[in-house]
Amino acid sequence: MDRIRITGGQKLSGIIPISGAKNAALPLMIASLLTPETLTLENMPRLADVRQLNRILSNHGVDHAVDGKRPGDAPHTGETVHFSARNIVDTTAPYELVSKMRASFWVLAPLLARMGEAKVSLPGGCAIGTRPVDFLLMALERLGAQIKIENGYVIASAAKGLVGGVIDFPKITVGGTHTALMAAVMARGDTMILNAACEPEVVDLANCLIAMGARIRGAGTPVIEVEGVTSLHGARHAVLPDRIETGTYAMAVAMTGGDVLLEGARADLLGSALEMIAESGSDISIEDNGVRIRSHGGDIEPVDVSTDPFPGFPTDLQAQFMALMTRANGVSHITETIFENRFMHVQELARLGAKIRLDGDTAIIEGQPQLTGAPVMATDLRASVSLVIAGLAAKGDTTVHRVYHLDRGFERLEEKLGACGAQIERVSDPG
Ligand code: UD1
Repeated sequence: MDRIRITGGQKLSGIIPISGAKNAALPLMIASLLTPETLTLENMPRLADVRQLNRILSNHGVDHAVDGKRPGDAPHTGETVHFSARNIVDTTAPYELVSKMRASFWVLAPLLARMGEAKVSLPGGCAIGTRPVDFLLMALERLGAQIKIENGYVIASAAKGLVGGVIDFPKITVGGTHTALMAAVMARGDTMILNAACEPEVVDLANCLIAMGARIRGAGTPVIEVEGVTSLHGARHAVLPDRIETGTYAMAVAMTGGDVLLEGARADLLGSALEMIAESGSDISIEDNGVRIRSHGGDIEPVDVSTDPFPGFPTDLQAQFMALMTRANGVSHITETIFENRFMHVQELARLGAKIRLDGDTAIIEGQPQLTGAPVMATDLRASVSLVIAGLAAKGDTTVHRVYHLDRGFERLEEKLGACGAQIERVSDPG
């Protein structure tokens, strides 16, 4: 199993290209199920989660083809991938595939919308707390689906097609909003989605669906209106840049010190996260081709944050911000409001010398002048990368085990950081 070995203490300087967003790419790929024509996605990231979803979509009969390199392409530009769901051959998504990645559960909505039936295993995913799907099923029921759960599978049907309706989410849910959108676009009549998630990835999905012929208004606000159409057609759409990757590298620079251009990053996608990094003492500027961050690496101010739906501070950056705060000049508080069990990085950060106490949904971090390297174990995707950035700032060697979590969501992590001066390498065990 691969490990990442880091010798901390190097400042980062140079350019880090930001990849297409994993959390946008996944629902966009799933939207290809809605049309027999080809959906072409540009700026696709090369990630384990994308490959896993390709396997799941292939099982339903979706073909995908990747464009070769074109003259003038930078060495690692995102891929252009053509998805074609001409014939859906299977409306079942089996446990063996869905249990590996939670987002694959979202195939339920487009399969149901297009085929009138779907059978999808209840999902697995990151170990960050119970992650139910009750709101997703409620959304489909509001549009006329019949749903039953049998032997770990959700069996959904709508023999006469889905019908527009009002979906009022009791809590903001990104996956619920994706599900509602993909179900509503071809339902008969109008749908109102209330308390919708405003995350940029929802807007990206809505924009792609609009390019495919859907009629959607209000994506990016809490009220989305959808006017159903009878069919969707092919389209070409570019995946938006990854805001979580952007925030992660910005926090790495804030912690180690240095001067890095996050190429292709969009500040408007970061919500309050960039403000919080700036408050902690880094200089952030918006350039023509991305976001630039400069930091001394010392004098990190303690900043209190609470995770919230967009445009609040993203839960997917909570672990990384905690890593940054372990080196602050004082005490900070980080409150997690989205997932109840998302503090598994705390004990691993403690192995590097961090002083963190948990009080319910709040972590109290007493900043230390110096962390020291240690072997650590990644427990989920974002927790793993928080250990990487803490290792970059720690004195001595850190080894991060269970790197497969990182490969799910960070493209060429060690290459991107290494190109900016980090001493970081991937070590593969023989055999
Ligand atoms: C997505 C993101 C994930 C991010 C999360 C919150 C992808 C692939 N994943 O996950 O990286 O951390 O948004 O920004 O885009 N909930 C229910 N019932 C439901 C659905 C959700 O109770 O049916 C709860 C969840 O347990 C959680 C909250 O609602 O407490 C928000 O979850 P949600 O926004 O749905 O997260 P995901 O879409 O799974």
